Amino acid sequence: MQLEVSGLKSGYGKVQILHGIDLTVSPREITAVLGPNGAGKSTLMKTIAGHLPVMAGDIRYRGNSLVGKSALSICKEGIGFVPQEGNVFAALSVRDNLRAASLAFEGAGQRIAEVLRRFPIFGERSDQAASTLSGGERQTLAIAMALVAGPDILILDEPTAGLAPIFVDRIVSWVRELAEEGMGVVWVVEQNPEKILAVSGTAYVIDAGRNSETVEARSLLAPGRLEEVLLQVHV
Ligand SMILES: Nc1ncnc2c1ncn2[C@@H]1O[C@H](COP(=O)(O)OP(=O)(O)OP(=O)(O)O)[C@@H](O)[C@H]1O
Ligand SMILES: [Mg+2]
Repeated sequence: MQLEVSGLKSGYGKVQILHGIDLTVSPREITAVLGPNGAGKSTLMKTIAGHLPVMAGDIRYRGNSLVGKSALSICKEGIGFVPQEGNVFAALSVRDNLRAASLAFEGAGQRIAEVLRRFPIFGERSDQAASTLSGGERQTLAIAMALVAGPDILILDEPTAGLAPIFVDRIVSWVRELAEEGMGVVWVVEQNPEKILAVSGTAYVIDAGRNSETVEARSLLAPGRLEEVLLQVHV
């Protein structure tokens, strides 16, 4: 089932940031979202996930509108969200983070075991506080926390920003696996997005709160195209 965002407007208080965004997320595919700093990518993801109110437009999933629903009910509809920042409880152990993330969801206890199998790096680290994990391990934990709710759509906001290449490769390959198993993934890509674009379907370029281009992700790998869309430099 596709997630359909149409004419979405939102922002912070009276300050409008998104001026009518369209986005379609399909199952079994990674949908890339990119654009310059401050374009509104995180604002878009927070609005879809119910962390910010919708000012206008619609977000539809499984025949229903998600507008006005709480973040928890959107999660229960099957939409998981890994925010760009503050996405784990630093003082809690890996296992307790997963437990905390699972509290509101039926069957989540069993999914904790599945998630621990999927991410073997947690093996001996389950009792370690999240604050002591490396950046890559912490991002993996944040993704694992979203997975314990059993989402069908997974929204990742710059999950590999600033990570060592080995972790970028691991996370790209895990997320690819999830998409192959049927999940629809939205990946807000960072400044060096080649690895993700290479495995994505559609790429949405956002600029100043509006759609600027919607293209096949791989087409952005052509020389000069990334600079053009990320810096809005026309070469
Ligand atoms: N909590 C907030 N309150 C008020 N304005 C905000 C808030 N968060 C973001 N903004 C503003 O909204 C605009 C879009 O920010 P947003 O974080 O969505 O951009 P982004 O595309 O995710 O950027 P980045 O690439 O840096 O992550 C910016 O002008 C920013 O200053
Ligand atoms: Mg952002």
